[in-house]
Amino acid sequence: MFNLHVSIFQFLVLFCQVGLQQIVRKIRGPPARTEEDVRDKVVVITGANSGLGKCTALEMSKRGAVVVMTCRNLTKGIEARNEIRKISGSHKIELVEMDLSDMHSVRKCASQISSKYRIIDILINNAGIAIHSPTRQLTPEGNELHFATNYLGHFMFTNLLLDNIKKSKAGRIVNVSSSALVLANFSINDLSMDHRGMGIGNLAPYSNSKFANALFTKELGERLAGSNVTTFTLCPGLVNTYLSQAYYSDDGLQNRLVQGVLSLVGLSVEDGADGILYCALAKGISHTSGQMYRFGRVLTSVSFILTDSLAKELWKESEKLVRIK
Ligand SMILES: NC(=O)c1ccc[n+]([C@@H]2O[C@H](COP(=O)([O-])OP(=O)(O)OC[C@H]3O[C@@H](n4cnc5c(N)ncnc54)[C@H](OP(=O)(O)O)[C@@H]3O)[C@@H](O)[C@H]2O)c1
Repeated sequence: MFNLHVSIFQFLVLFCQVGLQQIVRKIRGPPARTEEDVRDKVVVITGANSGLGKCTALEMSKRGAVVVMTCRNLTKGIEARNEIRKISGSHKIELVEMDLSDMHSVRKCASQISSKYRIIDILINNAGIAIHSPTRQLTPEGNELHFATNYLGHFMFTNLLLDNIKKSKAGRIVNVSSSALVLANFSINDLSMDHRGMGIGNLAPYSNSKFANALFTKELGERLAGSNVTTFTLCPGLVNTYLSQAYYSDDGLQNRLVQGVLSLVGLSVEDGADGILYCALAKGISHTSGQMYRFGRVLTSVSFILTDSLAKELWKESEKLVRIK
């Protein structure tokens, strides 16, 4: 079964809009902003050993933050941490092991971090996978692999750290999503995709997980309204990282086309990470808590598929799946 949440017409409009924004962003450079001071603030970043997460960790370290990098592979993590230390000159960088597809590992990591850092100021849920597989893959716990890694692990991690984030004077939670959410083939009754097709370019599992990230952000924003914690989601644009290169690494025509587009309009890792830094640090955006950003602007064109009812239903189902209630 394959049901998009947008019509073909809406998809084409969104596709053109997103493509045009990418070209404009590439030409114009990063959006202007005034930033909050993060010196000695605690910033937790998932998937911080590579791509956007690593670059974000470096930028936070340069700004004097206490950076907690979570990585599933400690060898890669140590290598990245050493590099970040060398470039930034900061030694306020810690590494904690976490495999987001494994709920035991998420619980263990959250417990380590929450007991060491009474206050957490910024949480950046960045880690992600995009596997170009024509068949669905499940975790040992029975969840679809993208859904578990990109969304459910982060849902659990965030909830386990929430009391510590609430102790911050101005806490922020940033969930890295993607414009690919418009290709979601999502049903609350079939979160593991038992009866869903893999979609265009086998992108549906990835798109569904990114759709879930945005719904999660919306509901979390509602639940935290009136508190000192805000939450944002974003699409960093099409960025030249391991994820985008690996996804389109085979020799098919479709993949060669995408590689061509990536080399023409793909952003550098620094420019991609800037979108994350914008949501984590820009002053004066708290009134947009719960919304999706792209290149420093609210991406209003996707809000019609992110409905309140779906966001609430997903929250309830997620609580059951990770057994935190
Ligand atoms: N690049 C783009 O064009 C693009 C566009 C839209 C959205 N995004 C989003 O941006 C985020 C960062 O991706 P990226 O482009 O920087 O890709 P990347 O370089 O591949 O980085 C992904 C990170 O996630 C980690 N990760 C993967 N599976 C994990 C797991 N089970 N547990 C814990 N960590 C795990 C990876 O660890 P390993 O090194 O151990 O694999 C790596 O550190 C992702 O959420 C992605 O969906 C990227």
